Amino acid sequence: MTQLHDDVAVDQDFARARAEQETGPLDDPFERRFAQHFPRLHALFRRLYGDRDDGREALADVVALAAASWQARPLELKARDDLRDADPDWFQSQRMLGGVCYVDRYAGGLSGIRDLIPYFQELGLTYLHLMPLFESPEGNSDGGYAVSSYRRVNPALGTMDQLAALAADLRLAGISLVVDFIFNHTSNEHEWAKRAVAGDPDFDEFYLIFPDRRMPDAYERTVREIFPDDHPGAFVQLDDGRWIWATFYHFQWDLNYANPAVFRAMAGEMLFLANQGVEILRMDAVAFIWKRLGTACESLPEAHLLLQAFNAVLRMAAPSLLFKSEAIVHPDEVIEYISPQECQLSYNPLQMALTWESLATRDARLLQKALDERHALPPGTAWVNYVRSHDDIGWTFADEDAAELGIEAYPHRRFLNDFYVGRAPGTFARGVPFQENPKTGDARVTGTTASLAGIEAGDAGGEDRVVLAHALALSTGGIPLLYLGDELAQLNDYSYADDPDTAGDSRWVHRPRRPDAALAQTDTPAGRVFRRLAQLVAARQATPELAGNALLRFDTPLPSVVAFQRPGLELLADRILVVANVGDDAVHLDPLTLSGFARDAVDVVTAESIELDAGLDIAAHGFVWLRVRPLW
Ligand code: GLC
Repeated sequence: MTQLHDDVAVDQDFARARAEQETGPLDDPFERRFAQHFPRLHALFRRLYGDRDDGREALADVVALAAASWQARPLELKARDDLRDADPDWFQSQRMLGGVCYVDRYAGGLSGIRDLIPYFQELGLTYLHLMPLFESPEGNSDGGYAVSSYRRVNPALGTMDQLAALAADLRLAGISLVVDFIFNHTSNEHEWAKRAVAGDPDFDEFYLIFPDRRMPDAYERTVREIFPDDHPGAFVQLDDGRWIWATFYHFQWDLNYANPAVFRAMAGEMLFLANQGVEILRMDAVAFIWKRLGTACESLPEAHLLLQAFNAVLRMAAPSLLFKSEAIVHPDEVIEYISPQECQLSYNPLQMALTWESLATRDARLLQKALDERHALPPGTAWVNYVRSHDDIGWTFADEDAAELGIEAYPHRRFLNDFYVGRAPGTFARGVPFQENPKTGDARVTGTTASLAGIEAGDAGGEDRVVLAHALALSTGGIPLLYLGDELAQLNDYSYADDPDTAGDSRWVHRPRRPDAALAQTDTPAGRVFRRLAQLVAARQATPELAGNALLRFDTPLPSVVAFQRPGLELLADRILVVANVGDDAVHLDPLTLSGFARDAVDVVTAESIELDAGLDIAAHGFVWLRVRPLW
């Protein structure tokens, strides 16, 4: 066992020798990428594991794993690597559209998902996120987020071979497969967990286990409670009396990344998944992966170093694979995870939360501020914009942004929670509270888009709000992500409360089974929403100005209006002007506000020509996507 060397070349030769023992001489493409990325990986390892004896060994093993994984990588995936290399902006296209679903709930199993490929194509999907599908404990497994094996598919859903075959079928259909990389924790039934508890010396440092409450108490002075309904604090007690770190459910045990063997083991699991044909890994719970006493143990600098190290490993062995960050934290922290060297994609929880905030308050200023000031991203990266996910909605806006608009954050969050769980007078929403914490007053909200937007309550604006929320996610840039079922205005499913495995977790209210696709043809909210969304998706696909992430300001004097311009990836001469009204009354934009544009504009959704001389009328909960030409 030796520490990492100061001289990177020495460790590089050491790692190469280890890899060549494994695979024979390195081939050209690997050699090139090894030379390019090893120095970065080495520097990251030095910062993470510099003073540990086993850091250098782990690094050499990781390189050997990468070399072996590259050697075993199927040819069609290597071809995909070349294709992406030639078109690195592929995911910035306005044709990108994501969908997400639970395999069992939506289609029964992987073969059911395969049968639905024509439907996914009809919707225009180019990206399909299948919720966790790995082996996990029976009963409550946090919807599969407690993984017992990263190499076996939950037998109720199918097999790993079926997953690889599905990835290939999806690829042929123009759809990239996305799965979770749940790397902050494993289930307590994972082999590593069992061995750690049993005292196997190879695994005793895989998790954070303490003999008594001394260290847990010390850590808990500064960490947040994430699932207080399940257990207080961040630790749970083992049968033998010891305490183990469990940020989420008591059966999800946090891995100890301070141990380089954990990095090595998880790099192996990641490379395995990459070779099944997964194109995007959703990096689960990134904020929590490194702990340090006296801190919140969230978004620590080492969390970024770890992600960058995983990224560097992939660049060597599966270069087309992308990471999507799941950081549902303060917006200043969310942005820190996004770069080509770390996560190329990220959920945009701020836009999601503020879309709902604006619909409740009928005031778009906070959303406008976020788009004006917090939307820009580094080149080579993109937001994943969504209306809602499988998780709760937390009000993650920055208190200081709210303060600038005279909004006091704490009572505002309270109001939003009350509004969306149907407690505020006059609310149109039918949501359910999630993880209400009486100690802190914190709470979050669950519910399907249609139920939160007013369709369940029979509110006259419900359908328009569903379409408006999607119109924003489809027009601000990056990859829009549809929660499958929402295109048919699916309502809450309260039956979760009758099932002991789901009753304690209200997020199941918005994870219903697949609605009947025939509803799309009917004159119901489902049918009307479906047709309006299909029209928007088609318009987006045909509008190159909506590609990429660039967003230019467009100020209006109206507080219920959010507006911006999109110039596309190549900063085209024409732009799309998006104007949306979250208010309950129609608004009029005067000609002066629009005077920077040529008089003739085109509504790209309806294909109608619009004269801007008379200004612009936007209905209650309405919006326009206008092709305009700036007058220079
Ligand atoms: C992520 C998932 C969430 C899960 C948690 C623990 O936040 O989105 O559903 O409960 O991680 O894995």
